[in-house]
Amino acid sequence: MKPRTLLAAAAGRLAEAGVASPEYDARTLLAHVLGIRIGRLDLLAVVPAENARTFRALVDERARRVPLQHLTGVAGFRRLDLAVGPGVFVPRPETEVLVEWVLSRLAGIASPVVVDLCAGSAAIALAVADEAPAARVYAVEREAHAAAWARRNLDAHPAGSRVHLQHGDIDGALPELDGAVDVVVANPPYIPDGAEVEREVAEHDPPAALWGGLDGLDVVRVVIATAVRLLRPGGVLGVEHADRQGDAVPALIGATAMGRLSELADRPDLNGRPRFTTAVRTEAPA
Ligand SMILES: C[S@@+](CC[C@H](N)C(=O)[O-])C[C@H]1O[C@@H](n2cnc3c(N)ncnc32)[C@H](O)[C@@H]1O
Repeated sequence: MKPRTLLAAAAGRLAEAGVASPEYDARTLLAHVLGIRIGRLDLLAVVPAENARTFRALVDERARRVPLQHLTGVAGFRRLDLAVGPGVFVPRPETEVLVEWVLSRLAGIASPVVVDLCAGSAAIALAVADEAPAARVYAVEREAHAAAWARRNLDAHPAGSRVHLQHGDIDGALPELDGAVDVVVANPPYIPDGAEVEREVAEHDPPAALWGGLDGLDVVRVVIATAVRLLRPGGVLGVEHADRQGDAVPALIGATAMGRLSELADRPDLNGRPRFTTAVRTEAPA
């Protein structure tokens, strides 16, 4: 079977099913089945029948809106290929900008301590450890399935040995680091209960990774309190939020941190949408 014919049929099928990027997804799945890079597809004369069957079966699943990353088993994030699947949140490109900000805040600190709250696959923790070799990184995740994916990713990467994974709630986590942390970073669940999300998200991302209560900010509240406790004076917090929460999260920090977090700023992602709030721990006593 000619690759072009296979890909055109698959892309048509995926477009009909409402998949947002049908051509890209079809090419990614075919490259995955053949074990080659996407760019090599154009050099291919023919796809063996067995591979074509496997490919069509994957396209069927994608048409049922199973996430692309669950079908390939991999999510690219910064310089990493992370293992993902049922039970863990698929890391999003928006979050890569938050990692960039964390790295910018580590410059000039000899052995920085970074805590990733709500770690999921360990995407943020591992990316920071990978790109900041002097950092000591802690990752906290409550859900057992997600923590198992995090463990797998940390064990698969050399920088994973510099990440301490804590399986538990962020509330009260890591008391031994109180007042000693340089950067607290978090991508918590922040979608308001009942909000509409794409089928891939609703049916395949774990509920604990998505829903944040009536206003979406239940876990963000715990992140703020935990950051106040963990950060050293001058240490910084970066917390991701939905694009509609660019005013709500700074306001929440202002209302709940009682002056212990200042220099509030809200920052955009690569699409220019409000994406994360940053703050600095003040000297005021806790
Ligand atoms: C949106 S996902 C983010 C995962 C990862 N940091 C990323 O950016 O891809 C949020 C994660 O927070 C975890 N979580 C939710 N509430 C938590 C809590 N109270 N304590 C610890 N982890 C929590 C969920 O299980 C989920 O893995």
